[in-house]
Amino acid sequence: NKVINIGLAGFGTVGHGLADVIEESRDVIRRRTGSDIRIKSVLIRSDRRRAEVEAIGATPVTDYRALIDDPDIDIVVELTGGIEFPRTLITEALQAGKHAVTANKALLAEDGMRLFALAAEKGVHLGFEASVAGGIPVVRPLRESLAGNSIRKILGILNGTANYILTEMTDKGLDFETALSDAQAKGYAEADPTLDIEGIDTAHKLTLLIRLAFGCNYPFAKLPVTGITVVTPMDIRFAQEFGYRIKLLAQARLVDGKVEAGVYPALVPEDNLLASVNGPFNAIRLEGIAGPVVLHGRGAGDRPTGSAVLADIMAIARHAAPNNLGFVNPVLPEADILDLDDAV
Ligand code: HSE
Repeated sequence: NKVINIGLAGFGTVGHGLADVIEESRDVIRRRTGSDIRIKSVLIRSDRRRAEVEAIGATPVTDYRALIDDPDIDIVVELTGGIEFPRTLITEALQAGKHAVTANKALLAEDGMRLFALAAEKGVHLGFEASVAGGIPVVRPLRESLAGNSIRKILGILNGTANYILTEMTDKGLDFETALSDAQAKGYAEADPTLDIEGIDTAHKLTLLIRLAFGCNYPFAKLPVTGITVVTPMDIRFAQEFGYRIKLLAQARLVDGKVEAGVYPALVPEDNLLASVNGPFNAIRLEGIAGPVVLHGRGAGDRPTGSAVLADIMAIARHAAPNNLGFVNPVLPEADILDLDDAV
C-alpha cells in the first residue's frame, strides 16, 4: 500500500480526534483509498505534548518548517486555531506544492480568497470540510451534490457552544455563566469563547457557506453580527410562553442578485425543525430548486470534527478532491450587499 504522510500542526481536541479516527478506520481507509494514512510529524508548542505525540507513533517537531521541508509529507493538516500562524503555515505549505486541510474558519473567512487562489495556482487542494459545522457534511454537498440546485437561502445553527448554552438556559433554567463553563468543560467551546458567544464563529462559517452556495465573497468584516450574550433568562422565558425558542441563527438569502445576510439571536417557532436542534448539535437548512434540504448533526467535538478532516484527507488520497470552492474561477466576485437598513 502507498503511504500518505500527514504533517499535523496542533494536537488539541480535534488533533486527537483525528488521530483516533485514523486509527479506528484503518481498514476502511485502505479499502476506500488504496493507501495508508500516517501522521508522520506533529508540530507542538510545548514539551507537554511530546509523549502524547510519540504515543501515536509520530515524531514531535517544534519548528513548522520541519513539516514544509519534509519531502515525504504530502498533506499539511492545520488544527491550531488563531489566524496569524495558520496563515503562514498554510501559505508556505501550498507554495511548496503540498495539499493542506484545515478546520480554521476564522482564517478562511478573513483570508480564504487568497489561499484558494494560491491553491488553484499550485494545483493542490485546500480542504475545509471540518471548518463549517464539524461533523456535518456541508462543504462538499454545497459544492457538488447541490450544485444544480441554485441555493438561494441559507439558514443555520452553526455554533455548538452557543446552541448548547441556549439549550441549557432554556431546558434547565441555568444562567449564562454556568452554561458556558459547562460547554467549555465538554470541549465544545473554542479556546477563546468570545468567538462562540459573540456570534463571530457563526459569522466565519456563514461567510464560507455564502461563497460555496452563491459563488460570491461577502466580506466578513461587513457581516452584521449579534451574539448570545445579549440574551437574558427572561427573554428565554417570554419566548417560551409565546411558543418560540431562541436560537443563534446565521441567515443569508439572494434577493434580486443581492445578498442579505447576518447573524443574530432569533425567535424560532417551536414547530419549526430548527427549534428542535438542541445541545451541541448544528443544523443547516438550504433552500433551492429542490425545496428545502436540512442537514443536522454534531457541529463540534473531537471525533466528529476529526472525521470531517479525515474525509478531506481521504479525498486527496484517492485524487478525488475537486477544485476548492466549486467554481472554475477561484477568484469569486465581491457580493452585492443588500443592507437591511436600505431595504426599509
Ligand atoms: N466552537 C465551535 C462550536 C466548534 O461550538 O460550534 C468549532 O467551530
